[in-house]
Amino acid sequence: MEVIILSSPEEASEVAARLVARQVREKPESVLGLATGGTPCKLYQLLARMHRARGLDFSKVTTFNLDEYIGLDPSHPASYHRFMEENFFSNVNIARERIHIPDGLAHDVPAHCAAYEKAIHEAGNIDLQILGLGSDGHLGFNEPGSSLASRTRIKTLTERTRDDNARFFTDGQEVPHHVITMGLGTIMESRMCLLLAFGKGKAQAVAASVEGPVTASVPGSLLQFHPRAKVLIDTEAASLLTRANYYQWVYKNKPTWQIDL
Ligand code: GLP
Repeated sequence: MEVIILSSPEEASEVAARLVARQVREKPESVLGLATGGTPCKLYQLLARMHRARGLDFSKVTTFNLDEYIGLDPSHPASYHRFMEENFFSNVNIARERIHIPDGLAHDVPAHCAAYEKAIHEAGNIDLQILGLGSDGHLGFNEPGSSLASRTRIKTLTERTRDDNARFFTDGQEVPHHVITMGLGTIMESRMCLLLAFGKGKAQAVAASVEGPVTASVPGSLLQFHPRAKVLIDTEAASLLTRANYYQWVYKNKPTWQIDL
């Protein structure tokens, strides 16, 4: 796990954008795992700018989103289909047929989840997975207690997550209780993970994920077992880390042969 502490969410998003851009340049047919939520918005804006201004080409890229609410139509303002369309897909040149997001309206959810897993496998698995972190330590919608070996499946949200996400729903709209999410086992098979977390509200989940014991009670902690996970956080999200000074020193003094940003 490489912990990179930056002064602001903007600076962290810039580092993340450079890493994603490098991945896409080095392997134009990359398979990207994508996240929703407030955290990756700036990253998507920066990638769209790189596409417009510098011709960063997504035409051969395949994408798989982490999750979707069950029961929401893709056109629903709070659906992750809509989120991705507005925040990223409409601003870059990803081929429509290579975009994958779990279908919240699937009639046979288990069959849909199995097909999603198969599609990831047939695409050659995810090269780079972008992740946010729930305030309770969840990855995707893998709530605390999720099996560490889980695959894409239905999950029930905790009240805390429903409260956290209520801001994306307008007054009177209920946050769904059920979702489809890639599993922790699915996420762990990606070749590289980029976890982004910003603000004081994430400090506890970041500390538990980075420095706590690996436990299903904190799904983010499973990344300690990932061979190539980078944690990009701002100083507020890093505020409860006991080794923050060490991570900062390591990042500032990376030998040139080790620099990949
Ligand atoms: C949401 C999403 C996650 C996301 C997390 C953090 O519920 N399902 O994929 O990473 O919670 O959200 P935010 O970035 O808005 O804080």
